[in-house]
Amino acid sequence: MLDLKRQYEPLRQEILDALSRVIESRQFILGEEVAAFERAAAEQLGVGHALGCSSGTDALWLALAAVGVGPGMSVVTTPFSFFASVSAILRAGATPVLADIDPVTFNLSAQAVEKVLEGGRGAGVKAILPVHLYGQVSDWAVFAQIGRERGLALIEDAAQAWGAEWEGRKAGGLGDAAAFSFYPTKNLSAAGDAGMVTTNTGEIAERVQTLRQHGMRRRYFHDEIGWNARMDGFQGAVLKVKLKYVDAWTEARRTLAARYDALFRKAGLAERRPYPERGVVLPVEAKGARHVWHQYVIRATKRNELREFLALREIASEIFYPIPLHKQKALQSLGYKDGDFPEAERAAREVLALPIFPELREDEQETVVAAVAEFYS
Ligand SMILES: Cc1ncc(COP(=O)(O)O)c(C=O)c1O
Repeated sequence: MLDLKRQYEPLRQEILDALSRVIESRQFILGEEVAAFERAAAEQLGVGHALGCSSGTDALWLALAAVGVGPGMSVVTTPFSFFASVSAILRAGATPVLADIDPVTFNLSAQAVEKVLEGGRGAGVKAILPVHLYGQVSDWAVFAQIGRERGLALIEDAAQAWGAEWEGRKAGGLGDAAAFSFYPTKNLSAAGDAGMVTTNTGEIAERVQTLRQHGMRRRYFHDEIGWNARMDGFQGAVLKVKLKYVDAWTEARRTLAARYDALFRKAGLAERRPYPERGVVLPVEAKGARHVWHQYVIRATKRNELREFLALREIASEIFYPIPLHKQKALQSLGYKDGDFPEAERAAREVLALPIFPELREDEQETVVAAVAEFYS
């Protein structure tokens, strides 16, 4: 799915020099390398504040806690995401309320959110947490309007969406706060676990800064219960190096996605959205969105058989995500049942992510598409 060696080779010396600076400075936790990365990241995203932390999961929790989400409150989010989108809400002491997804973008459906807000579970909702799944923001204008009209906070799960845009504005600056992940497979990736919270609100930024180090404003004076959720110096140093290249990597991903589209169309494989009948349905860049193609995800008939067929030809593919969150064992206490979110359930049966990373070669893409064509022939 991803060959990080191809990314590392040309950057090897720059990254080793950066790591070496951390060792020389002995600032292993936060420190100048992290601060420099935070400044550069805020500038690149066009946001007021960027705070480095220990993971995307912690970034979600920090963002929720910093906007004031806590016990007795609910947060609306999607059942079709990585587990952390929901577990972070529980970790903040609040209750996740789920709404179904849009079948074309796979993102939380604004219409479904409105319906949920009108229903029984809508009482006590404090925030909405849309996930920019696979690297794409969608429906943001509607979410912003819902937030404004109902006085709800908007928190972006931008873990997969570094550089993604909505109507010319970057993810990370759209909501009250946003969470990024720099997990090694992400578009902008660390050499370990790391994450970031971004916000345009000074008070939220200050709270994140405090919460990420045990609620401490003054050393050993704890004003509230926070957590140890700091970014380490090595991660800041590596991320600062990679930040210079990520725009070019995004462009490469966009070219690759367009090429996959063209290859599938040429092979006569692309069917009408949203659901496939005999073959595959291609992903789409929604109107108003700039997709960064963290993943290129098709819908496929006989998805599991296709995946096995590709594996036999040594072609990697992945299912993000095979089990919707309301069907996860750990989340049974939320009280949802099979059939509650038909779009998320159908997506979980049909989606298949194909290899995409900036250094993927044209001939490799041709091999992938040829194998898919062979399967359906
Ligand atoms: C949508 C989404 N949210 C949250 C996370 C959590 O990030 P991390 O793995 O850095 O904790 C991830 C990444 O794995 C993710 O894809």
